[in-house]
Amino acid sequence: MAEPILEVRGLVKHYPLTTGVLFKKQVGSVKAVDGVDFTLHRGETLGIVGESGCGKSTVARMLVNLEKPTAGVIRYKGEDITQLTGKALKAVRRNIQMVFQDPYTSLNPRMTVGDIIGEPYEIHPEVAPKGDRGRRVQELLEVVGLNPEYINRYPHQFSGGQRQRIGIARGLALRPEIIVADEPVSALDVSVQAQVINLMERLQNEFDLSYIFIAHDLSIVRHISDRVGVMYLGRIMEIGTDEEIYDHPTHPYTQALLSAVPVPDPEAREHRERIILAGDVPSPTNIPSGCRFRTRCFKARERCALEVPALAVPAEFRLTTGPAAHDSACLFAEEKQVVPPEETR
Ligand SMILES: Nc1ncnc2c1ncn2[C@@H]1O[C@H](COP(=O)(O)OP(=O)(O)OP(=O)(O)O)[C@@H](O)[C@H]1O
Ligand code: SF4
Ligand SMILES: [Mg+2]
Repeated sequence: MAEPILEVRGLVKHYPLTTGVLFKKQVGSVKAVDGVDFTLHRGETLGIVGESGCGKSTVARMLVNLEKPTAGVIRYKGEDITQLTGKALKAVRRNIQMVFQDPYTSLNPRMTVGDIIGEPYEIHPEVAPKGDRGRRVQELLEVVGLNPEYINRYPHQFSGGQRQRIGIARGLALRPEIIVADEPVSALDVSVQAQVINLMERLQNEFDLSYIFIAHDLSIVRHISDRVGVMYLGRIMEIGTDEEIYDHPTHPYTQALLSAVPVPDPEAREHRERIILAGDVPSPTNIPSGCRFRTRCFKARERCALEVPALAVPAEFRLTTGPAAHDSACLFAEEKQVVPPEETR
């Protein structure tokens, strides 16, 4: 495996929960991200999946420094970037760029495409001297499959897929090494999703990019990711290669998510087991003791309320080298094939 380019350890984001208008009093906190660990290797795509509200976007925002973590470290090439300021921070930020979910709202409607894609050069003039920017932007338009002559058009003159290409071109303007893509295709039609995913794959090879790819659609994540992390209530529950997670999941939460993936083949659909997730996701202001998944877990026992399972290779798989031997935060981890392998590919 290539060397780590990004190492996230114990990443936490708690938002204070206050009452009162004049005299604000903190009465608790929203534990949006509550101890996340993962490593991104150079040139790979790490997918992050999980239900709405589990903290995916908050992780993304901390990675690109749109928000400061409450605790934890983010190491970029071995250096903790959460402590950087000034010039050093600016230099690192250039290398980690974000592509946002909604191409309809994330592009300023009053700016031309040329100004949108070239905006990062205002902050980093060292990357492209003023006289050279138009040419660079046209080059970027071409790279993402758009006509360079569109440089003076406005966002509303483009389709959703084209707008996301503009968002990607903007993300590439500073020649970053890492792209954090937060649900980059979720707002697009299914037919357009594949085109944007293919574009991202091509760009990854062309520019040697490493991706964090956030989505809630498990099939899309499998298609693009080398490894996948499954998040629940602010933490990663299970992480491994796509084969480990999809074909050999050991965590009940992953198994439940996979059991809900639509299966096109009617016969396979009839034979597969549906695991129903009990109840609703608990509030991130009030996280269950012990294993945070226990209130919805079909396997929960008494011990699960008392002990916090670590994200590590479960003891029973430690001596094996098979695909079940990957990190899973469950006290009673068991391998269970939920979906026939070909169904999520
Ligand atoms: N600025 C904020 N102040 C208070 N709570 C917040 C703030 N931002 C996010 N949260 C809460 O933190 C939790 C995680 O939110 P986040 O947007 O990261 O989830 P997500 O996994 O990206 O969800 P989705 O799939 O819907 O995009 C949610 O409960 C959300 O309400
Ligand atoms: S530790 Fe217990 S509650 Fe948590 S996932 Fe495992 S079996 Fe379920
Ligand atoms: Mg989100």
